[in-house]
Amino acid sequence: MNNLSLLKQEFLDKIANVSNLKELENLELEYFGRRKGKLTEILRGLKDLSEEERREQGKLANQIKQELKEAIKEKKGKFQVSNFKFQNEWIDVSAPGEKIIKGHFHPLSKIIDEISAIFEGMGFEISEGPEVETEWNNFDALNIPEEHPAREMWDTFWLRQNEIKNQKSKIKNNEKFLLRTHTSPVQIRYMQAHNPPLRIIAPGRIFRYEATDVSHSHTFYQLEGLMIDKDISIANFKAVITTFFQSLFKKDIKLRLRPSFYPFVEPGFDVDIICSVCEGKGCGVCGEDGWLELAGAGMVHPNVFKAVGYNPKDWQGFAFGFGIDRLAMMKYKIPDIRFFYSGDLRFLKQF
Ligand code: PHE
Repeated sequence: MNNLSLLKQEFLDKIANVSNLKELENLELEYFGRRKGKLTEILRGLKDLSEEERREQGKLANQIKQELKEAIKEKKGKFQVSNFKFQNEWIDVSAPGEKIIKGHFHPLSKIIDEISAIFEGMGFEISEGPEVETEWNNFDALNIPEEHPAREMWDTFWLRQNEIKNQKSKIKNNEKFLLRTHTSPVQIRYMQAHNPPLRIIAPGRIFRYEATDVSHSHTFYQLEGLMIDKDISIANFKAVITTFFQSLFKKDIKLRLRPSFYPFVEPGFDVDIICSVCEGKGCGVCGEDGWLELAGAGMVHPNVFKAVGYNPKDWQGFAFGFGIDRLAMMKYKIPDIRFFYSGDLRFLKQF
């Protein structure tokens, strides 16, 4: 009896001085350890007592055991609340997270991907060409000879001759170089390398030496298209671009073909659609017209076939050149082409 009371007092004195969890664990082990715990030993000794003593002592011992366990639990609780580490590592798992800033594609890249997928669905292959072109690919082969007034349709950035001559490459004498003014030279490159029948599109960056405004830029993107077979007609062209517009804008788009002139097609026409920025009422983007010119197109001129070595008597087909920036402006209702090239994150983050 005395032993037990003493033990309890001793324990309570000790636990009052315990100042961290580790010390508490040691104390618990000292009294409740399975083999050598002070209280464990007393409890184990009960079996050697007489029945009467055992009942009395046993009751007391169990009661003290409960009290001490309770004291340990209470102390542990205090440590946990005041535990420095515990408080500092506490997190609110239900709090909204911080947004991770990710990069993303430019709106023009996005629309090029989308356009490519639509044409791939119609069996077109994707082809590309260089931004620095030869005069021959950009003009001559497209039935625009030197001194032809049609060259003035494209204000050209010419590259300086002497710089190019110094480069050791397969450049022919007096070959002139330029920044391509349209994607049409990709037609020439592709036809020289492949035999018909064929259907391709060629998206790419082009350059014009001209002043910028809401709908013009010195650098912009075109999508060239070319489809050649034995009996391709303007009806095929209309079907292809109608399907294309419906897929891109996800609704019926009103379009019109107007007769027009490009030296590399005959007949040639322009494709207009109702301006989606103003819904045809007239605005800065469509030049107050309600219609916006999106593409030049036509049936490939026999002289182009001759330039690439196709027999014009065997083959025919259509070609078109869309302004990709304008398509993107219509699709996303962007009022100024210069936004695409401004690098302004307030604009870019909206896509
Ligand atoms: N290359 C022409 C332009 O830049 C567009 C065009 C392409 C016209 C193909 C007819 C056929 O204006």
